[in-house]
Amino acid sequence: MSQTARLTVGDTEVELPVVQGSEGERAVDIRHLRERTGLVTLDPGFANTGSCKSAITFVDGERGVLRYRGIPIEQFEQSPNFVEVAWLLIFGRLPNGEEYDRFSQELTANANLDERMKHHFEGFPRSAPPMAILSAMINTLSCFHPEFFELEDSSQLEQAAARLISKVRTLAAYAYRNSRGLPYMYPNPRLPYVLNFLHMMFSLPYQPYEPPDVVRDALNLLLILHADHEQNCSTSTVRMVGSARANLFASCAAGVCALWGPLHGGANVEVLEMLETIHRGHMTPEEYVALAKGKEKKVRLMGFGHRVYKNFDPRATILRRAAERLFTELGVSDPLLDIARRLEEIALEDPYFVDRRLYPNVDFYSGIILRRLGIPTNMFTVVFAIGRLPGWIAHWREQSLDPDRRIARPRQVYVGETGLRYVPPEQRE
Ligand code: ACO
Repeated sequence: MSQTARLTVGDTEVELPVVQGSEGERAVDIRHLRERTGLVTLDPGFANTGSCKSAITFVDGERGVLRYRGIPIEQFEQSPNFVEVAWLLIFGRLPNGEEYDRFSQELTANANLDERMKHHFEGFPRSAPPMAILSAMINTLSCFHPEFFELEDSSQLEQAAARLISKVRTLAAYAYRNSRGLPYMYPNPRLPYVLNFLHMMFSLPYQPYEPPDVVRDALNLLLILHADHEQNCSTSTVRMVGSARANLFASCAAGVCALWGPLHGGANVEVLEMLETIHRGHMTPEEYVALAKGKEKKVRLMGFGHRVYKNFDPRATILRRAAERLFTELGVSDPLLDIARRLEEIALEDPYFVDRRLYPNVDFYSGIILRRLGIPTNMFTVVFAIGRLPGWIAHWREQSLDPDRRIARPRQVYVGETGLRYVPPEQRE
């Protein structure tokens, strides 16, 4: 049954349609509000604004639910396959055998970079932040693929997506190797997606890196859990840039810049720094929690709390299990994991965190896993970007097919000076 919302402003009353989503959420459609009333809406940070209709990812923060194309995220835990999930997100359903093989082959065939691109890496200082390099190099990549500036159909989109998803891991690995002064390792066509990335990161010309299956599975799962999270900051950026009909590569390069921010993709680094501070400074987890909830609030319990999740972030639950599995199967321990477990235990029983509904988020355990895989801290957000890329591509594609598509151009409420006069320089005081 279609519903409407009534808005009264002075003597004017307008009826606005209420749109209902497939999971029951409702939204007031205000697109004609200004032409009928002269009013715009004001919503800093867009926390209460639906920017589009989307069929990709569903998040219910109250119940701690996350689904990709209708499939609960937990169902990818058993035999995690990032390539399959990438295809699912972009094209809307799980690939059949032929589609999966074709996409995998495209990923393998396109892993190499044009040799001229290597020289670009040498132009960056050794200390350059890898996220800056990644964003710059994704744009550079577009110069080598002008054929994908305009994507005519689904098959061309698939080819462009395969190039991006495949090459982003080569770019990431080369950025790391360059920062360490290590020789670049060419992708190995015999290796599947995740193992190829680890090979380019960690093999040496005289010594291949061959990790156990548990390492491959942990990274596959971690990439899957980062693959999409509906209209987050970087995805909204990709959509915003794409709405101007900027090409897929340029839009994703902008997404990398947004993800770089410490309030977004950078939080996993801060979690690790917090755990190390506790470990090194001989501060107990109890003391840290006391600091985080203290009156002055000088620190936050990093990896806790979320704008949308007011219950367990399901990704954190899965990553905690993945961390336990990884450490058990490798037969190693990490004092940081023990500290994280203890922090979680304390916070979940503490009224400060319980009352504010602060639970572990995706970043709480991801850094511990990445560290165990040998990924240096300054590459954590780059790995997040590799994971998030299919989500960005899926949203870019969805938007490009959306009949409601318009250039993203919010309004504002102007609060500056009014009606001043230009004063020539010699008359200014
Ligand atoms: N530690 C201690 N107190 C916290 C924490 C925390 N991690 N998070 C929120 N609070 C407190 C706030 O101080 C505030 O308390 P008050 O009501 O007494 O003032 C209350 O909880 C509400 O906090 P807000 O900042 O209003 O919550 P918001 O939804 O705006 O912020 C955010 C969410 C940014 C994630 C926040 O919880 C936080 O800073 N967490 C730590 C950083 C982090 O882990 N970020 C990763 C998020 S996941 C991701 O981006 C992939």
